[in-house]
Amino acid sequence: MSDPADLSRPPGGGGPTADTWTLEFDILDPAGEGRREALCTLGNGRFATRGAAPESRADDVHRPGTYAAGVYNRLRDEIAGRVVENESMVNLPNWLDLRFGVGDGWTDLSAVRVLEHRWALDLRRGVLNRKLRFVDAAGRTTAVRQRRLVCMAQPQLAGLHTVVTAEDWSGTLRVASGIDGAVTNSGVARYAGLAGDHLDVVTTAEPAPRTLLLMARTNQSEVRIAEAARTRVRATGAPDPEPRLVRDGERISHEFEVAVRAGEAVSVEKVVALQTSRDPAISEPALAATEQVAAVPGFDDLLTRHELAWHQLWRRFRVQLDDLSGAARRTTDELLRTVRLSVFHVLQTVSPHNVDLDAGIPARGLHGEAYRGHVFWDELFVLPLLTLRLPGLARALLRYRTRRLDAARRAAREAGYPGAMYPWQSGSDGREETQRVHLNPRSGRWLPDTSHLQRHVGLAVAYDIWQYHQATGDVEFLADHGAETLLEIARFFAGVTTYDPSRDRFRIRGVMGPDEYSTRYPGAAEPGIDDNAYTNVMTVWLLLRAQEVLDVLPPTRRAELVERLGLRPEELLHWRDISRRMYVPIAPDGIISQFEGYRDLPELDWDGYRRRYGDIQRLDRILEAEGRSVDDYQASKQADVLMLFYLLSADELRELLGRLGYALPPEAIPRTIEYYLARTAHGSTLSALVHAWVLARANRAQALEHFERAVVSDVADIQGGTTAEGVHLGAMAGSVDLLQRCFAGLETRRDALWFNPHWPIALGRLEFTVEYRGRPITVGVIGREVTVSAGSGAGAPVRVGCGEQVCELRPGETARFMAVGVPLAGPPVETEPAAR
Ligand code: BGC
Repeated sequence: MSDPADLSRPPGGGGPTADTWTLEFDILDPAGEGRREALCTLGNGRFATRGAAPESRADDVHRPGTYAAGVYNRLRDEIAGRVVENESMVNLPNWLDLRFGVGDGWTDLSAVRVLEHRWALDLRRGVLNRKLRFVDAAGRTTAVRQRRLVCMAQPQLAGLHTVVTAEDWSGTLRVASGIDGAVTNSGVARYAGLAGDHLDVVTTAEPAPRTLLLMARTNQSEVRIAEAARTRVRATGAPDPEPRLVRDGERISHEFEVAVRAGEAVSVEKVVALQTSRDPAISEPALAATEQVAAVPGFDDLLTRHELAWHQLWRRFRVQLDDLSGAARRTTDELLRTVRLSVFHVLQTVSPHNVDLDAGIPARGLHGEAYRGHVFWDELFVLPLLTLRLPGLARALLRYRTRRLDAARRAAREAGYPGAMYPWQSGSDGREETQRVHLNPRSGRWLPDTSHLQRHVGLAVAYDIWQYHQATGDVEFLADHGAETLLEIARFFAGVTTYDPSRDRFRIRGVMGPDEYSTRYPGAAEPGIDDNAYTNVMTVWLLLRAQEVLDVLPPTRRAELVERLGLRPEELLHWRDISRRMYVPIAPDGIISQFEGYRDLPELDWDGYRRRYGDIQRLDRILEAEGRSVDDYQASKQADVLMLFYLLSADELRELLGRLGYALPPEAIPRTIEYYLARTAHGSTLSALVHAWVLARANRAQALEHFERAVVSDVADIQGGTTAEGVHLGAMAGSVDLLQRCFAGLETRRDALWFNPHWPIALGRLEFTVEYRGRPITVGVIGREVTVSAGSGAGAPVRVGCGEQVCELRPGETARFMAVGVPLAGPPVETEPAAR
């Protein structure tokens, strides 16, 4: 690994520091504030609030934001003569709003001398701490300490606790605690020219003493949102002050005045409830929010319950790196903290509370407005982490897709295909939300966006359904929802497949693969490329699973489904035919071509571009600004062909290709990897995940570099500014998943948990917990050795294997294996053939 100090240090200072459970920021850095806000976001899956300073309002530096899972709204704009409609995850009223002032006016941090300003995100407890000391123009020194949480125990609640100390002055401290409804979606500079006004404030009120209420409604989707805030101010030597209600446009607040003497502290406790009309188990949001907030005894009570909820989550998502000291220890501490940060943000976006919601996994979390909160294929990279710890949550998230099956069917029908065509970008109702034009900030030009042609998103949905079933054995989910969705997706892919008599092969033409830099052939009037290898091979995989899923279903359900879908034997035969004769572009040198004709495109002068531009991740924008097109080169944004190695084992891929009559000789794999490595700009944070994975067994040093890059995607803001607009959830979850499925080599198949460990000894002993068939399993990995312990308590044994060894692990038992196959200790083993 490279210098450990680089792990989390973003360029330009303001870098996070501290122990493996704390992320600290101790430099005031306006340029880095957006990134800090995103990384300090607190959430509970139901809603999240960016780590903005409570006294800040949206401007060039600060982007306060609160977003609730699944709360979207549509707005229209006219761009370049055409009307476009965008659906966005809505920025909700700012409940953080809290200002303080000494004498007249409110403290403005840009007008005082700041002595200390530190933020510390406590990952273990889910608390954001802030420490601020400043001297104002009159020479008075004031200290402020704040703690905040978005409650993981009771997902409607949040709290902000502030203590203001008059260090060396006596006078009047003023506090304003409000709810600001005058908010818009303005968190992404590129969208600045587009409408962002989603909310109408319906009413403000004071429903109970010291309690404020603000009701708002989204102006198209008519989601009602209520926020209630109760603020209590306590001074050391005086009775609690009564608030004055202030209404200021769409903002409502309580203002307090307290007389303080030098050395005295004033505490301000704000407890907030946020409810929307999409929440279950309520009459209406305002009533629910008011009642919720009234029922909270105080911030500390909320904190106690919140900490317990996090404690329980961390028990399931435990990750540890041990057994090192000195410099090596510091490296692994940095790494461990970043891994924990990733788990933390994944769980703040999708938590056990999401089981009751109808919401997908937004690619940028609930942490910012990039991609408008849309759901892409990224759940492919997120679900493996969840399925092995919170299978019920994984199932609930898959329901987001299965509930939108009808929308996908409509989309397929409208495009002239059978089955279900899932949208590349999905929001509220499952229609295609991909923007039709996008802005190149380099050239200032609005350009057609054809990324909706990434039909492979449906393959990811089907893959996720199948993997969930494989890991959990949950047939009920397949029977109720999963199988129907998978079959309809299979139908769609069989429908887009056409027979080419000249080759006696089936082909898929006019689509896009995962690589977003290959949208069309040079000079072509129509977008789309032919025979994207990833899409074609995964279609074959899918058509085979479609047959298998029918076999897995209980007979009654199978019969019902076949009847309801009108699945005829000829259709199944046709699928089988495709699964034997799909075309895959493979060159004579054995390298799988990304699509038909990719290898005929000119090579890009990679070195030249790197020299000229330094960072060429967004090669598409660079070339467009130069009047060229990235489509015209063998240049990929992200892993595309290599996705096949990420999703399928070498044996599976070899078998699929063999079925089609293609060979995949062993040497073709490293050659293919090397080929694409040299032609990939990694303009997506997902790319490093896939490269780490595919390199893990062949070139561990390079694999670790990619892993490191993936894991620090946000903490180091490797794309130079995108983290401020929301974290990259796929990279966060996917890098933690690399630890378990790639470096520990964990697989769930044939009703057993299998391991193939390959973890550098230099990084210490990796330990993590998973849940398998209802039992907690602790896994310890170092080098090529793995220790597997089953949690105690009643229950059936689980089967655990490594290489050719497999054993039954009873509750409380531990087994140790070396990847070469010799069991070191533990229960007796039997031998099974290795499949990987
Ligand atoms: C990537 C996609 C990804 C999306 C959302 C894009 O930059 O190319 O593969 O789904 O970001 O994360």
